Amino acid sequence: MVKHHDFKRCDQSGFCTRNRALADYMSKGNHEPSPYQLDATSVKYKDGQLVGSIIKTLASGEAVKLPLTISFLERGNVRVTIDEEKRRKGEIELRHGSVARKERYNEAGAWALTGAGLQSQKTATFKKVSKDASQVSWGPDHSFKAIIHHAPFGIEFWSGEEKQVVFNDRGFMNIEHWRPKIDKPVADENKTEAEPVESAEDESTWWEESFGGNTDSKPKGPESVAMDITFPGYGHIYGLAEHAGPLSLKETRGGEGNYDQPYRMYNSDIFEYELDSPMTLYGSIPFMQAHKKGSTVGVFWLNAAETWVDIVKSKHGSNPLTLGLSGGALDTHTHWMSESGLLDVFVMLGPTPKDVAKSYGELTGYTQLPATFAIAYHQCRWNYVSDEDVKDVDRKFDKFNIPYDVIWLDIEYTDDKQYFTWDPLTFPDPISMEKQLDETERKLVVIIDPHIKNKEGYAVGQELKSKGLAVKNKDNNIFEGWCWPGSSYWIDAFNPAARAWWKGLFSFDKFKGTMSNVWLWNDMNEPSVFNGPEITMPRDNIHYGNWEQRDVHNINGMTFHNATYHALLERKKGEVRRPFVLTRSFYAGSQRTAAMWTGDNQASWSHLAASLPMTLNQGVSGFPFGGADVGGFFGNPSKELQTRWYQAGAFYPFFRGHAHIDTRRREPYMLGEPYTTIMTNALRLRYALLPAWYTAFQEASTDGYPIIRSQYFVHPDDEKGYTIDDQLYLGSTGLLVKPVTTEGAESVDIYLSDDENYFDYFDYTIYSGGSKIHKVDAPLHKLPILMQGGHIIPRKDRPRKSSGLMKWDPYTLVVVLDKKGEAEGTVYVDDGETFDYQHGAYIHRRFSLSGGVLRSSDIGTKGSKTASYLKTMKDVKVEKIIVVNAPAEWSTYTEATVTEEGTKGTSTAELSFHSASGNKAAWAVVRSPGIRIGGVWGIAFPGASSPKTDL
Ligand code: NOJ
Repeated sequence: MVKHHDFKRCDQSGFCTRNRALADYMSKGNHEPSPYQLDATSVKYKDGQLVGSIIKTLASGEAVKLPLTISFLERGNVRVTIDEEKRRKGEIELRHGSVARKERYNEAGAWALTGAGLQSQKTATFKKVSKDASQVSWGPDHSFKAIIHHAPFGIEFWSGEEKQVVFNDRGFMNIEHWRPKIDKPVADENKTEAEPVESAEDESTWWEESFGGNTDSKPKGPESVAMDITFPGYGHIYGLAEHAGPLSLKETRGGEGNYDQPYRMYNSDIFEYELDSPMTLYGSIPFMQAHKKGSTVGVFWLNAAETWVDIVKSKHGSNPLTLGLSGGALDTHTHWMSESGLLDVFVMLGPTPKDVAKSYGELTGYTQLPATFAIAYHQCRWNYVSDEDVKDVDRKFDKFNIPYDVIWLDIEYTDDKQYFTWDPLTFPDPISMEKQLDETERKLVVIIDPHIKNKEGYAVGQELKSKGLAVKNKDNNIFEGWCWPGSSYWIDAFNPAARAWWKGLFSFDKFKGTMSNVWLWNDMNEPSVFNGPEITMPRDNIHYGNWEQRDVHNINGMTFHNATYHALLERKKGEVRRPFVLTRSFYAGSQRTAAMWTGDNQASWSHLAASLPMTLNQGVSGFPFGGADVGGFFGNPSKELQTRWYQAGAFYPFFRGHAHIDTRRREPYMLGEPYTTIMTNALRLRYALLPAWYTAFQEASTDGYPIIRSQYFVHPDDEKGYTIDDQLYLGSTGLLVKPVTTEGAESVDIYLSDDENYFDYFDYTIYSGGSKIHKVDAPLHKLPILMQGGHIIPRKDRPRKSSGLMKWDPYTLVVVLDKKGEAEGTVYVDDGETFDYQHGAYIHRRFSLSGGVLRSSDIGTKGSKTASYLKTMKDVKVEKIIVVNAPAEWSTYTEATVTEEGTKGTSTAELSFHSASGNKAAWAVVRSPGIRIGGVWGIAFPGASSPKTDL
């Protein structure tokens, strides 16, 4: 059970309580208007950027100046930034002699953004529409407009004729300005209480705040930023990773079926986290998509401090904003609250989920293109106890013919939890272990955490301390806390000098016992501090640049895994390969350098079920390379549960079995029959589909689309799919998977949205789509997978020990004809290891079948390394083409005609036809057509419109 008392609720967080109280007050109606006004005389507009000053008028009449910048960006995004002049100029006093920076934290963008997509659209046009409002038009064909209301300050964002997003509509905007602490007069002995001095606001947590026996000294006083953001006509919100709840986010202000707490983002090590909860988890991505039929918009709240988001929905028309919207529509109102920092928000106006994903990716970067092994299967547990143990597990996988690519070592491999060392008794010879793995192109991942043991004689710890590269406490001395190694210090990866030092630690001659097939796992980087408030660092700790922990908290984990990624790039001169780093904590931008997993789940059916919306939501949140511990971390799964989990895990972008130290061994071969075979088949399925996975990753790495996709993402206009989060599509392949997540199930219900035929992956049973729910058989040995008509899926069907050994294997193409007898698909191939693809060393093909001819054409652009790469791939062929739903006319033919560029004339290939039977579709197979995966070719099927294929 989660320890609720370790983590704050909103009513235990000063700024959350204050902002919710403001929201309640403003919602009551009889109040003064929001005290924020844009000073019209201050507004200046130039080249797509508007600057001005917002004035906050205090009860005393005093005016607080808040500089405003609105940038209208090239791709149609818009950025609104609000700062506070006094803090910016440093005209404030810090309490308790703190060395903290005086400004509001303004470097979140330096970590989260890539710098792309930030150019203002110079052609954007500005006009004053009334004495109290300005308007800017921008975006594609200037179809977007922002109406900026001056008093009270607020912004409406329109696309075409529809208002899509509104800031400060409900007047919850709140920038807690700096003020000096005025000590209350000491109570007169004759009176029982001192008079209140400054305001009617609740000041009790302005100057210090205690929780769980820790007191936060709050040297900068209250400094939260908050804004309400309304989505008129939008009924669904997705995103805001990481939470364990449904994909379509719930309301948070109570009421039946709703949460009574806001979604919280404050990266934390939550022991035994609970499901269906808005509690924070290990990572935070303050980005959401609002969705309705016909439109998707996005909001990215660029703030690294603790953030809470309330969500409420109202019927359209109950709010003056949405009068006139069509029947049944809802408005969704969100309320964002952060403890400190700038108010810095991006709005993306869509209009499709793909557009929003792409826009967000343009700002924060697309997901890395991982090495091939990284998307294969990973075998982990806490712990493989010795190098002999690892070798033994490795041999057993081979003995049982089970593929795997990576074996992992948890913290026990180290000498007394001193990272960069090996336990001399249990891991005396790591190199021979790594060499054995390398024989089958397998890899080793070892864990290294950000807490560094404080121990005399441990060189890494001593250097960290002596070089001043660790996080400091509020008194500006090295911070000491408790984690796995006992007393520890924490590397401050915000510090460039710390990152440079970190790099040095990974070189093969420094981290002895590692070879080039060793990669990294970064855990506990929230950071987890066992004796800290909320199991993390005190908020008044000091980081590089004198920023307080509170300002940078949610970015901390990302700085650490980034540092590790860059260290791995430079382990050896001249040997640059795509690093693999797994992180537990993350922020917006983490997708560029790491994979994530959902932390310490449990071996229960409910956790298996919860892993699907969580993994899907990672995709919506722009960090799609994720998965859950397969089998469940805590506890021992039943054999059935574990088997079902392998079937589900085969469709996580990151696929790793992992288990707690107190659990029984559960490598797939341990379970016995029929379980071992069924799990092996799930693993083989993953391996066979690696070309499709890799292609989906490539798409994510260039367009920002999720790797596994939810129903609303694939069918954005089908309202029936908006809350479905237990079935998923793999990339653009048309593969639709519904993992079994209930005990004893013999079938599942699959919802088919579009009016297409779907075919069972294994036996081609036809299921007709068009808003229908089908019961699909799912006995234990079967994972329900359907193929949507109209797709071509690349596979490699030869079972091997690891993905590395499949590199030169031939391809199978599965062509699934749609109702018109057509299909399309793509494949992306490169060396799966280096960065040569950035110089054109790849194959990117589009396959299409129409008019009875299957053609392969080139998609990618060429680069300096294209020709040499194609040469290495010249013998990699397509060995088989399976056409599902093949026309009956083919039944009397035995050949297809093959044409390939660079070979003379045409040739023929054997065609075999298998008639439809019962509700199973007909299928045909072309064997050994002799064509190259990277070639330009065509295959004409019987009755083709142009039997001699014109290439
Ligand atoms: C916590 C991680 O979440 C878990 O996966 C790991 O096994 C333990 N730390 C030990 O390192």
